Amino acid sequence: MLNREQEIARRRTFAIISHPDAGKTTLTEKLLLYGGAIREAGSVKSRKAGNYAVSDWMEIEMQRGISVTSSVMNFDYEGYRINILDTPGHQDFSEDAYRTLVAADSAVMLLDGAKGVEEQTRKLFHVCKMRGIPIFTFVNKLDRVCKNPFDLQDELEKTLGIHSYPVTWPVGVDGVFKGVYNRALRRLELFQTSGSHGSQKISSIQIDISDPDLESYIGAEAAQNLRDDIDLLDHAGDSFDLQRVLAGELTPMFFGSAMNNFGVQQFLEDFIKMSPAPGKRNSTKGLIEPGDESFSGFVFKIQANMDPKHRDRLAFIRICSGRYEKDMSVYNERLGKPVRLAQPQQFMAQNRAMVEEAYAGDIIGVFDAGTFHLGDTLHSSKESFCFDPIPMFPAEHFAAVSAMDISKRKQFVKGIEQLKTEGAIQVFHNPDYGNDKYVVGVAGALQLDVLAYRMQGEYGVQLRVESLPIQYARWYTPEDATLDLPQYSGDVTRVTDSLGRPVILFASRWALQKVEEKNTHVKFLDIAP
Ligand code: G4P
Repeated sequence: MLNREQEIARRRTFAIISHPDAGKTTLTEKLLLYGGAIREAGSVKSRKAGNYAVSDWMEIEMQRGISVTSSVMNFDYEGYRINILDTPGHQDFSEDAYRTLVAADSAVMLLDGAKGVEEQTRKLFHVCKMRGIPIFTFVNKLDRVCKNPFDLQDELEKTLGIHSYPVTWPVGVDGVFKGVYNRALRRLELFQTSGSHGSQKISSIQIDISDPDLESYIGAEAAQNLRDDIDLLDHAGDSFDLQRVLAGELTPMFFGSAMNNFGVQQFLEDFIKMSPAPGKRNSTKGLIEPGDESFSGFVFKIQANMDPKHRDRLAFIRICSGRYEKDMSVYNERLGKPVRLAQPQQFMAQNRAMVEEAYAGDIIGVFDAGTFHLGDTLHSSKESFCFDPIPMFPAEHFAAVSAMDISKRKQFVKGIEQLKTEGAIQVFHNPDYGNDKYVVGVAGALQLDVLAYRMQGEYGVQLRVESLPIQYARWYTPEDATLDLPQYSGDVTRVTDSLGRPVILFASRWALQKVEEKNTHVKFLDIAP
């Protein structure tokens, strides 16, 4: 039996951040394969990058309402408990992807070796950086022609502002991939493929860098290049500093091919050792220690069950301290009363399992009949407190929405309110619109279609959606500042968010820049605190 401290120390809770198609589904699966959670890869459902229609997406979401297999997964590996949080990435990119990072203790940044840092990765990285969580980089698809690894390191520094420390180093990025060199072990692991998309684990062949046979394995030129690269890295590169890694200033970098299982196990083994166990969390009564006796956690995601026959939802709770016991009652700080965490579930590859107990770092999904709101603090402490609120992350698509049939106004308002508490949409009030029309913002374009679909299906309201030519929303401090804004321009719109805070919506980057230049006394924020 492990005690609470030991249970916490063995937990690793992370999210994979990447751009669609970099191989997140594949890597997740391979981690599950090496973790023994699945016996054969090829079973985790991929939400493909293809151009699927909204109805297909709904179909997937409905199935997910029943089996939320890919939201959170956990497995044990060498005594560690690994919790992987899924960040929606394709057309279903939404604020959930950002919010998931608030629940994670570290992030794995997965890059396609040929493409480097892509847009969605950059956006998600920005949130990790803001939270100061450690970021581990896995460069994937090394079996194909890839960018030069030194250039990739440069790219990380220039586009993301983070230094990297290659833990492994690839040999042959020109399409004739030979393997990866492990700098700590001073050994080269030869690339091999089982030829079956890596559905089974592979065994590895390793050669010492000083082995005279190295040349015969990889060729004289590749061996010389490797020695030169290592020399350069050792003398001119950053040295490994775990404190800088934990502060999110240095990213350990790994190379491999998830599809071929290559480099995955090595990555997993180093990752569990370098990444942090659940840490302290900020609250209104100061830092909450994961080892605290009393239970605490917060709701970071609400997954609606879109089957109109079952209006229940799942609320996902990140546990921050104490011990969760089955069916326990905890205090909901917003409601000011106790609530029961009923039918708690954890997710393992294809299956859900009832949770008997859980600790800081764990994620549980509880049955929710509409009680929970996004960001709710739950605890069993005698003293009242709230965790830091979950920020509002940048929406990028905006529309004015109203009910087609004005007599449905009540249902319209109810639906919009509920979808707001789920975090599916951001709602803004434009004083020119009156009370029958709102501005809504979403992070992924498909979310507007989803909104219309759900308003019809769940609230019986046919929605009028007028897409708005807005690209950026900015909060600002101080909120009472006098702003110099263009008088008669459609480029800039003043609104308030659902908490009554002033927000400015901009039609273009140009308009945003102009306003920033004219108002240097004000700070414009893309993420609302
Ligand atoms: P995602 O979740 O990040 O969107 O990516 P996913 O894992 O679905 O992978 C996207 C594509 O990249 C898939 O190909 C997958 O097989 C491929 N892939 C993943 N890892 C590697 C790798 O290490 N090397 C190479 N060469 N390809 C890789 P697909 O053609 O879309 O699907 P499939 O027919 O292979 O399943």
